[in-house]
Order: sequence, then structure tokens, then C-alpha cells
Amino acid sequence: MTQEKDKVYIFDTTLRDGEQSPGATMNMQEKFRLAQQLVKLNIDIIEAGFPIASAGDFDSVKNIADNIRGVQVAGLARANQKDIDTAWEALKNGENPRIHTFLATSDIHLKHKLKMTRDQVLELAVSSVKYAVSKTSNVEFSAEDASRSDLDFVCRVFEAVIAAGAKTLNFPDTTGYALPDEFAAQIRYLIENTANIDKAVLSVHCHNDLGVAVANSLAAINAGARQVETTLNGIGERAGNTAMEELVMAVKTRSDLMNVRTDIVTEYIHPSSRMVSSITGMSVQPNKAIVGANAFAHESGIHQDGMLKERTTYEIMNPCDIGLSEGSLVLGKHSGRHALKDRLRVMGYATLSDDELNKVFTRFKELADVKKDLVDEDLEAILLDEVIYIPEVFQLVSLGAMSGNKTMPTSAVKLMVNGVEKIGASIGVGPIDSAFRAIAELTGTQSKLLYFAVSSITGGTDAQGEVMVRVENDGKIVIGQGADPDIITAAAKAYLKALNRLEYLKK
Ligand code: KIV
Ligand code: ZN
Repeated sequence: MTQEKDKVYIFDTTLRDGEQSPGATMNMQEKFRLAQQLVKLNIDIIEAGFPIASAGDFDSVKNIADNIRGVQVAGLARANQKDIDTAWEALKNGENPRIHTFLATSDIHLKHKLKMTRDQVLELAVSSVKYAVSKTSNVEFSAEDASRSDLDFVCRVFEAVIAAGAKTLNFPDTTGYALPDEFAAQIRYLIENTANIDKAVLSVHCHNDLGVAVANSLAAINAGARQVETTLNGIGERAGNTAMEELVMAVKTRSDLMNVRTDIVTEYIHPSSRMVSSITGMSVQPNKAIVGANAFAHESGIHQDGMLKERTTYEIMNPCDIGLSEGSLVLGKHSGRHALKDRLRVMGYATLSDDELNKVFTRFKELADVKKDLVDEDLEAILLDEVIYIPEVFQLVSLGAMSGNKTMPTSAVKLMVNGVEKIGASIGVGPIDSAFRAIAELTGTQSKLLYFAVSSITGGTDAQGEVMVRVENDGKIVIGQGADPDIITAAAKAYLKALNRLEYLKK
């Protein structure tokens, strides 16, 4: 790529590092949908996965490289020929595929993990980059654990791999150890001491273990880095990665200090964040910067008064800029199929089949009858129920629950199990417990419920309840989410979704 001085490239790794968040597994269709949304955001590079990690990862990277256009698609590979071959096999039909190969440079990793000397690491880095360059000129090299490495050694490695053809050099703070001033000084040192650094784009990849991934990335930009690796909602290994929405909005809002730009279409930030949280089941904390539910909520009377007089008294960003507007109060019972389709397109669901759209429309009308104003989150909840990402071996037909302070909580459940109708009832400590027991019996499954959370999608007693569960069986952990105005039905849907995911994984 020809490098513009003031442009910061956004390399999104939600589908790779983001997926490394515990429990955030996404299936192929979900990843594809998210990749389409990343294109709308105008991300520069999508890291679609780690092709050698599993057959599923390979297929998913290939599917994205084969079909997504208008963005570079990257695949991760360790520094060896087999990884690089596999990554290339998955990527090769892409419009502008990138091989992203990595090797650790810190003494801790060399001694305990790689059991290699610095000279061996240098040699392997160079030979791997040369091998990758024999497939494509678009090669990125990452010095894993770079921020804890001897910087002179990193400079030697960077200089050698640039000479070998790497076009992007990534300096990761793999363990989230660095602090902003220190990290910026490291970037400056690299720029000053790597002779041919002007032949490549310098990138950073920060983890959030000390809560400063975004601050480190911003400091690195000011020191000269021109690619930042990010994830939506900041998900990722351990405490996560640099949150794309925070970085991009900081660059935009403080353009007076940053003097750079990204090409992200920020109006897609909010729907994209919602898409990630609904697909992964990782909800966004309400006070999270930019995309948290409270990020633009003003509670104190003094603040509300100021806002009514002039928005900028207490707001540094316009909520419309991240795709949040009063227009998020979107549709009501009189809205038609066309309005629904249009809203779904904005939310990133442009490619629903007619059949899927019909199902969503029917549910939308049912909900609009009981709830006056439907917002994006309501539509998302319907999408999660109706747009089938995984085959539904178990389907809820009906559920009746009885509870109260003097009643033994009992649930009667009717399911379709592999196309056969089954009916059962169970008692439990509460109505949800009894429903789950009945479902476990009818489906013949033995899973462990690790996590259960109920929230209301929007305010008001007519709000839909949203239930999120995390379930484990045989070492496999999956999430399930369900929404319904009836909270016990929402819980049953969430549980069944998780059980369907487990069935899918078994196959
Ligand atoms: O954190 C890290 O070092 C990584 C590399 C593979 C870039 O994720
Ligand atoms: Zn990482």
C-alpha cells in the first residue's frame, strides 16, 4: 500500500484475537455476517482467522477471502511453512490477501516457549517472511511480546524482515504490560533505529491487561505508528484488545491533537457493536465508552438542564456520529415490510433471504402488537431467534410455567426434537429451573449451566426480556441467547439455542 502520512490503517482482528475471548466462538455464518459489517465500517484490513488452528477456522477464512470484496483479508500463521501454506490456501482467492506471520522476540518466550537463540529466531523470521512473500507481496510480520523484548533485537529483526519483503511490521504488547509513555518511547526508538523502516507500515497491537490498550495505541500513533490492530467492543484474549470504537472516536473527536485520520464510517459503530455482542453473547458493560448503554445518558438534573440548553455543555461527541440517534426508536405496528427491510440493511442484515425476512417480519408484527416502539435491539433479538445460524435440532413449541410463593414451581414444555414432538413437565426451585429441567429431560442432554443473566432489552414493563446463558458439555462451552416478552420463554429459548450449538459442535 502507498502510505499516506496522516492516515491510520485499522486492522480489525475481532474474528481472530476477538474470537480468542473465552466463550466467544462464532460459527462460519456469523463470521461472514460480521465481515460484511466490517466492510460497511470501511475497515482497511480484516483478520479473518488463524487458518491452521482448525478446519472451521480454515473454512471461515476461505469463505471470507473468496466472497468479501473492498477490503484486505488477512490470515494468521506462525513462522513456519506449513502454517503459511495453510493460510495461503485459505486466502489465495481474496482480492488483496495478506499473510500475517508472527514469531516471538522476547527472551522470556525464546527461553521458555521457543527454546531458540536470538540468531535462530532472526533466521526463522527472515526465512518465513521470504516464504510468505513468495505467495503474496502483502506480508505482515509480528514480533510477539515485542514490548518486553530487547529493542535492539527487535530493530535487527524488523530491518531483516523488511529486507525480506514484509510490508507491515507489527509491534504487539502481547501481555498488556506497557504504559503509554513507555510504549510511545519504544515506537520512537524503533523508528529511529530501524534503517529501512520507511519501507513499511509500522503497526501496534495492544492488549488491555492494565486497562490502557487504547491509550497505548493512541500514544503509538503520536509516536509514528500508522496501523492499529483493534477489535469491536475491545474483545480478545484475556482482558481484550484495543477497542476499535474507542480508538476511532478518540482520533476523530481529538483531531486537534491527533493530526491523523481513519477512514472508518463511524455511523456504523453502534450497530456493529450490537452485532458483536449478540453473536458472541458478550454483553457490553453499560458504562463502556462510546457503545455502552449509558455512554450518552445524562442522569443528573444539572446535566440534563445543560443538555436541554445546549448539547455540547455535556456531550463531546454527537451520538449520531456512532449511529445512535433518536431514529434508533425505529419502527412501530404500522411499519411495513419495506421499512423493516431498510432498517435491517442499516443494521448489517442486508442479505436475508425472503424466507428469513418473512419470519422476521411475522415476529416483528407480533411484538409490535404488545410493545409500542421497537428499537434496533428488539429487532436484533428477533433476528437471533429467527435467522437460523445453526440447525435447530431442538425447537420450542410451547411452554407453560406456574410459580408463586405458595406453589411448587412447575413447567410443562412441548418441543420438537429432531422433528418429533415431545412433551414433558418438571418441578424445580423456580419456574426457570423447572423449565430447564424439563428441557434437559426431553432433549436427553446433560450440560452444565455456567452462567445465566437476565436483562431487559429496553425500558418499560412491556420490554422484551433477554436471557443469556453459557453452557458446558464435554469441555465445550457455548452461549445461547433468547428474547421474549415472557422471561421464562426467553430463558427456554436461550437454553435451547445453547443446546443446539452443542449439538452442532458435536458434529
Ligand atoms: O497478542 C499478540 O501478540 C498477537 C499476535 C499474534 C499479533 O495476537
Ligand atoms: Zn493479541
